[in-house]
Amino acid sequence: MTRSQDLWDEAQRHLVGGVNSPVRSFSAVEGTPLFVRSAEGPHVVTEDGDRLVDFIGSFGPLILGHSHPDVVSAIREAASRGTSFAAPHNGELEIARRVKDLIPRIEKLRMVNSGTEAVQSAVRLARGVTGRDLIVKFEGCYHGHVDALLVKAGSGLATFGVASSAGVPAGTANDTLVLALDDEPALDATFERHEDQIAAVIIEPLPANNGLLVQRPEFLARIRQHCDDSGTLLIFDEVITGFRSSAGTYGRQVGIDPDLYTLGKVIGGGLPVGAYGGPAELMDHLAPIGPVYQAGTLSGNPLALAAGNAALRVLIESDAWNQLDQLGQRLEDRVGRVLASSTLDYHLVRHESIFWMAYGGERPLRRADRFHPDTTSIYAKLHRRLLDLGWMLAPSAFEVGFLSLAHTPDLIDSFASALEQALAATVKDMH
Ligand SMILES: Cc1ncc(COP(=O)(O)O)c(C=O)c1O
Repeated sequence: MTRSQDLWDEAQRHLVGGVNSPVRSFSAVEGTPLFVRSAEGPHVVTEDGDRLVDFIGSFGPLILGHSHPDVVSAIREAASRGTSFAAPHNGELEIARRVKDLIPRIEKLRMVNSGTEAVQSAVRLARGVTGRDLIVKFEGCYHGHVDALLVKAGSGLATFGVASSAGVPAGTANDTLVLALDDEPALDATFERHEDQIAAVIIEPLPANNGLLVQRPEFLARIRQHCDDSGTLLIFDEVITGFRSSAGTYGRQVGIDPDLYTLGKVIGGGLPVGAYGGPAELMDHLAPIGPVYQAGTLSGNPLALAAGNAALRVLIESDAWNQLDQLGQRLEDRVGRVLASSTLDYHLVRHESIFWMAYGGERPLRRADRFHPDTTSIYAKLHRRLLDLGWMLAPSAFEVGFLSLAHTPDLIDSFASALEQALAATVKDMH
């Protein structure tokens, strides 16, 4: 019995399913979660003293790797000056300047404590500004555990949503229309039918929560056009993609600006932070200026913003994004080659430092309803094999992997070798 297993047994008695967020449980893979004692650079160290290379990066925030010295010292320094003020402080202005510099569409922003809170607030703002109720979202995009967005699609054209979680009122689900990604006819039909009722369309412009479903820019442009024509607000949820590239957002990379952006993960430097922002004319509908209420005891927390500011400073003042893209290119080359030579039908999808191993299905895969039925069962075995070899990927076939500045080219090469071994073992497991 390992110490991790001991702790896991105890965790079942204290925490629901042993975890504080469902995605950390191993319900979609084999074995039980490892308890992490510490983490540094590209590595985590388990309670059993095993050192693993981490490609989860806390599901996106840790673009500099674990315990980056600048982030750690900024947190220490901030803590020595007080942990929460309930009053404005300079760290809030610092982060606002950095966000606005890189994302000019954001004239004003509001800091919150998570991506979920950012999205929930942006949706409320959109409804408050437009005086409309309906929200359009896309199947396979995750926007946090916001009631109105925990809604699944039916098939075919837009259907009124059915909640995909218990506890979401039918009335709330009814106000959400779910469309398939990459489906222009469904989008056109929805706007034709509900043109003056839709408050906002929300989308991850680079959907990265259900595999990595790179969209055609033409599809995003069509959404933008419909929103412009109908007075609907467009929200780009860039909680994962925000500040992952030198463009600041994926929207800016493809030259399409939304009305509102939601951010999180990277801008918090590994502490709990979210933000939403857009033109002053929209944002000024928020309290204390406007009638849309949104508040937070710990919003703009000085420790969290010290971490975020330190992380953004490193990214902006170094060659970080370029380096990350080069690492991603190396991964694409090395891992792509390994996957191509395996009898298992995997291929690599990558955008800069975000990657995903797609199993079977269409290429390119753009929709969440086109996954191969064996995706989960095969990944469960591969995940186990990789973990045994010291490589930590997300415990779900549909979660992407994240590279950080702490991953070296040598590590990428070693990962490709380990993956080759793990794939061969997985093929054997299947026979
Ligand atoms: C695109 C997107 N939006 C929103 C969220 C919710 O963020 P949080 O988990 O910080 O509430 C996530 C989380 O993974 C996300 O990926």
